Amino acid sequence: MAKKAASVFVCQNCHAQYPKWAGRCEQCGEWNTLEEEAKTASPRKTTPNSRGAGLKTTRLDGKATPPARLSTSMAELNRVLGSGLVPGSVVLVGGDPGIGKSTLMLQMTCALAREENSVLYISGEEAIDQIRLRARRLELDQDPRALDTLELAASINVNDIATTLEERKNLQVVVIDSIQTMWLESVASAPGSVSQVRSCAFELIRLAKTLGFALILIGHVTKEGALAGPRVLEHMVDAVLYFEGDRGHQFRILRAAKNRFGATDEIGVFAMTDTGLREVPNPSALFLAERHGNIAGSAVFAGLEGTRPILLEVQVLLSAKSGDGAARRAVLGWDSSRLSMILAVLEARCGLKLGSMDVHLNVTGGLKITEPAADLAVAAALISAATGQPTAPNEAYFGEIGLSGEIRQVSQTSLRLKEIAKLGFRQAVIPRHVGNANARARAPEGLNVVETGHLSDLVRRFAPEAS
Ligand code: TYD
Ligand code: MG
Repeated sequence: MAKKAASVFVCQNCHAQYPKWAGRCEQCGEWNTLEEEAKTASPRKTTPNSRGAGLKTTRLDGKATPPARLSTSMAELNRVLGSGLVPGSVVLVGGDPGIGKSTLMLQMTCALAREENSVLYISGEEAIDQIRLRARRLELDQDPRALDTLELAASINVNDIATTLEERKNLQVVVIDSIQTMWLESVASAPGSVSQVRSCAFELIRLAKTLGFALILIGHVTKEGALAGPRVLEHMVDAVLYFEGDRGHQFRILRAAKNRFGATDEIGVFAMTDTGLREVPNPSALFLAERHGNIAGSAVFAGLEGTRPILLEVQVLLSAKSGDGAARRAVLGWDSSRLSMILAVLEARCGLKLGSMDVHLNVTGGLKITEPAADLAVAAALISAATGQPTAPNEAYFGEIGLSGEIRQVSQTSLRLKEIAKLGFRQAVIPRHVGNANARARAPEGLNVVETGHLSDLVRRFAPEAS
């Protein structure tokens, strides 16, 4: 007699399993993540004395050929991937629903098909006609070569997909949109559950590795892992790219969070238009395009994303504290504990008291800055907002601030200075270069470099009469 299928409670965040429901997962500490799933058959037991085939070991010396790459002919995408797709590799493209993942991947597959690569786009979310309509909207249907080469399929059944992939040995790129919709008959839980997502991904990854096609899995996931299922995927794939942006803004940033075949600090910048995503080869100009002259509380930061310098505007708004509680610190695009530190340093070292003010900080364009090099621009925006004095026109900032108020050097000074000059700025406020006096000498022509040693020097720039 067949036993009644038992169920287990599986944490959708970390895949820990429990016999009983609980409010909190003891393993990862998340709340409300346990869901009931049918118990899957346990893997075949191996007898203790069953022997494997043994390994063929080799020495470190010997030739290693770098992986071949399939260029996507989209420079921004290639940059993030590390100059193209690697055959047999698996890339997870994650992001909020509606951010543009399907659009980006359809554009990429068309670009690949145009170069006569054999590409299959499998959608579990949309019917074939919907994909065709999207392609028309993106004006991709005007390319006869892409029309001829790109293959589409609509399916959620991984067994069916596996049969096709095994029959079609010549495929070079396969896109799965999205992994949450995929379904394996042998797994009892619903599509999107962590067990299904894992098992389906495992099977598709196995096929990619054995058949040698590049596999792209689209996954709806927020960076905070709010939609937890696909988080478990991150460990199974070769590269994880996040497609980010504010849906209210047109900018979209593709960021590598993990990449076995390239750098993880590269970003690709795109703009969502009526006809799909456009690459943005010069993001600085775009990020600064909506800047309204020089108002108090704004400063331009010369940042670095991967190998690329990018200028951004940091905006600060101060207002009298509302209510009795602690002052508000609303931060968009930056680290709020870093803001607290700078506020504390401004108060302790420069006597600028902002503790009773609500602070709103915003990095324009929807970009998130992670570099401490933004400290100086943030401080400038804060001091400017506090004194009501705008930063000098055509002035940009970069530098890290230490706890004693000293301004510390950051990497890639000349690259940042070059970008500042390229965008028509006349002055750069940067850290004082100890033992490296030629920063100024190396500055591009026409750019005035102001070296600043301490935060109080910066404060003095805004209120010269106070000193
Ligand atoms: P989509 O690629 O479907 O997002 P995802 O796959 O990440 O869920 O993008 C959907 C959004 O993009 C939708 O709100 C409409 C917008 N969009 C454009 O603005 N222009 C376009 O050409 C296309 C195809 C979509
Ligand atoms: Mg989609």
